[in-house]
Amino acid sequence: MLNLKDPSLLKINNFVDGEWVAGGAGTITVTNPANGELVATIANGDASDATRAVEAAATAFKSWSRIPAKQRAVLLRNWFNLLMANADDLGAIMTAEQGKPLAESIGEVGYGAGFIEYYAEESKRVLGATIPTVSNDRRLQTYKQPVGVVGCITPWNFPNAMIARKAGPALASGCTIVIKPATETPLSALSMCELADRAGIPRGVINVVVGNDSRAIGAVLTQHPKIGKFTFTGSTPVGKILMKQCADGVKKVSLELGGNAPFIVFDDADIDAAVADCMATKFRNCGQTCVCTNRIFVQNGVADEFTRKLQTAIEDLKVGDGFEDGITIGPLVSVSAVEEMREFVADATAKGASIATGGGTHELGHCFFQPTLVTAISDDMRIANEEIFGPIAAVQTFETEDEVIERANDTEYGLAAYYATRDIGRVMRVAERLEYGIVCSNSGVFSTEVAPFGGWKESGIGSEGGKEGIAEFFETKFHSMGGIES
Ligand code: SIN
Repeated sequence: MLNLKDPSLLKINNFVDGEWVAGGAGTITVTNPANGELVATIANGDASDATRAVEAAATAFKSWSRIPAKQRAVLLRNWFNLLMANADDLGAIMTAEQGKPLAESIGEVGYGAGFIEYYAEESKRVLGATIPTVSNDRRLQTYKQPVGVVGCITPWNFPNAMIARKAGPALASGCTIVIKPATETPLSALSMCELADRAGIPRGVINVVVGNDSRAIGAVLTQHPKIGKFTFTGSTPVGKILMKQCADGVKKVSLELGGNAPFIVFDDADIDAAVADCMATKFRNCGQTCVCTNRIFVQNGVADEFTRKLQTAIEDLKVGDGFEDGITIGPLVSVSAVEEMREFVADATAKGASIATGGGTHELGHCFFQPTLVTAISDDMRIANEEIFGPIAAVQTFETEDEVIERANDTEYGLAAYYATRDIGRVMRVAERLEYGIVCSNSGVFSTEVAPFGGWKESGIGSEGGKEGIAEFFETKFHSMGGIES
């Protein structure tokens, strides 16, 4: 049973045109992955709910896009303040539906709110240009204008921050939005909406449709004629389907997709720091982030020391229900995710890998899996090629810088890459040579609202965060003014 300071933050219906409304397809349940208990029974929205939401957002766009940016900034700032003031309750709702440790959930609420704050400020700094003319009777200018209604589909791994990262710049730019949160984690989205409403954001500007028919709702959000832009965070295979759906209407698209992040430890690294950084990126959110370390490459000279210390750190992790004190690893999101981990381990051991620690379901059962270290990895193992999305660390070794760069880049993904070295020349060289949208040297943490987050290759299109993040929500208009001088 959820114990909230403000129980009215737990919403169970769709939020469409400023009203809490039931879903066209009855109800569905939200359960806690730590114990399978019911958290809430909520509306099951369908395509007709999504259509109504898009139409409400299109009507709201007419006025929202014309409000001066300074006024929009005030409303977004109000929303930021309310998100921060209610961080404990929002964190508890998140842990109940997603499983991550409470401190991590509350941290995510602050991370997400940072996007609302940043884009409230940034909305006032969106500039067009005056272009030197090509003839004396003309003047040339560009304007930035909001793209219209934005359809968003957001994932279960960051139920708050991935919404904030899209809603912040969308609303700041003058766009209105319809959000379809993951079926597993709709409650965070709904509670954020309740706070947006309390902040004074007008009806229809932000809408949420929850439901388990993602295909039908997704079709509306990618294909409705009144959608101006579509943005998605999730897996690469689903992103490709959604991108194809957007093609017919030539919608603007941003995609934050899968990753296959290398973590490279060079002989000259500070090994203790490298272990701490590797732990931070590998086991964040139980290994369930697109930027989690996926392949660990260690140079031969330090491989034994690094692997031994990594094993000790993994064995020190405290697995359990995210509401218990001191827990550092919660459950995976579902029983099928546990099965996926078992299959990775079975495939690797059948092909000659060694399990240094963990390797199986955790004694807590249900969605828990043991934090695991696998060594003696070879290229034919699934673990060496696919996105793991769970608490399994797989260590490989290498000889030279050239060799490891080639192996690190040998993937269709290009989201985040990490490396540890104390050689400043190598810090620069390796950053330039890694084919990734984000490179992170001597640290396992980089996410912030002030910098762009986006992938290369099949990891995505566009960026979220920073100046780049708001640019995605504007069209550029060129105004050629004639008749200035007769
Ligand atoms: C993600 O995994 O998609 C987001 C991670 C982050 O924002 O740091």
